[in-house]
Amino acid sequence: MPNQFIMTQQEGPVAILRLNRPDVLNALNIPLMDELITNVEAYDQDPGVRCMIITGNERAFAAGADIKEMAEASVVDMYERNNLARWERIKRVRKPIIAAVSGFCLGGGCELAMHCDILIASETARFGQPEINIGVMPGAGGTQRLSKTVGKYRAMELILTGRMFTAAEAHAMGLVNRVVPVERYLDEAIAMAREIAERSPIAVRVAKEAVLRAFETGLSDGLDYERKLFYMLFATEDQKEGMKAFVEKRKAEYKGR
Ligand code: HXC
Repeated sequence: MPNQFIMTQQEGPVAILRLNRPDVLNALNIPLMDELITNVEAYDQDPGVRCMIITGNERAFAAGADIKEMAEASVVDMYERNNLARWERIKRVRKPIIAAVSGFCLGGGCELAMHCDILIASETARFGQPEINIGVMPGAGGTQRLSKTVGKYRAMELILTGRMFTAAEAHAMGLVNRVVPVERYLDEAIAMAREIAERSPIAVRVAKEAVLRAFETGLSDGLDYERKLFYMLFATEDQKEGMKAFVEKRKAEYKGR
C-alpha cells in the first residue's frame, strides 16, 4: 500500500523517512506511526540499507502525538488502542537511525527523536515535553530517556514546566549531537549516515546494541554484555578484513558477514 503520511527516499545505503503531515506540524497520529514503523522495519531487513534518517520539514520535525486523536479518548480507549506499544518496535530496529530535526520537536516528536541513535538539529529546532500543559505527561519514553540523557534535575524542570528549549540548549545538555544552520541539517545527517554506512554493518549493529544496553542495565552487567559482543565480532569476516586492511594500509571492504 502506498504511504500516505510519510515519504521515503533512498540515497545509496542511506534511507530517508520524512514525516509528512505538514498542515498539522507532523502531529503523530496512529496511521502515520504505523507507516513509519512498517517502513523502518522494512529498511532494517533490506541489505541495501545501512543507516536510516527520520526527518520532518523545516517548520516541524513533529509537534507531538495528535492531540485531536486523543482528546476525547477514555482510559479504556487508550488501553485498547495500545498505540504506544507499537513504538517499542522502533526500539528494536538494529540499524542506526539518525533524527534530522528542524522546527518543532515536541512531546511525542521529541520522544520519537529520542528513539533514534543520533540527533542532528538545525539552529531553528525547538524541543520540549509540553504534555504537562495539556494535563498529561510524556508517554512514549520521555520521562525515562530524557532523564537518562540530561539528568534528573534538568529532565524534571523540562517535564514539569513543559517549556520549550532551543537547539543550543539541547546541545549543551547532551540531547543533540550537532547543531547546524537550517539549510544544512539534512545534508549533515546524510553525511554522517554515509560515514556510518562505510563501516562494517555487522560491527555497527552490534555496537548499537551494546550502547543501548547501557540504558537498560547496571554497569557490571553492561560491561559483561559489551565484552561478549566484542569477542563475538572476532567470528566475523569484517573483523578480519578491517584489521588486515589496517595492517596493509588500505581501505577495508566490508561485507556485513
Ligand atoms: C494535533 C496539532 C498538534 C498536535 C499542532 N497541531 N500540534 N494538531 N496535535 N500535537 C495543529 C494545530 O491544531 C493547527 O491546526 C496546526 O497544527 C498549526 O499549529 P498552530 O498551533 O496554529 O501553530 P503555531 O501557532 O505556530 O504553534 C505551534 C505549536 C502549537 C507551539 C507547536 O501548535 C502547539 O503547542 N502544539 C501542541 C504541542 C503539544 O502539546 N505537543 C504534545 C502533544 S501530547 P489547525 O487545524 O488549527 O490549522 C503528546 C503526548 C505524547 O505528544 C505521548 C506519547 C506519544
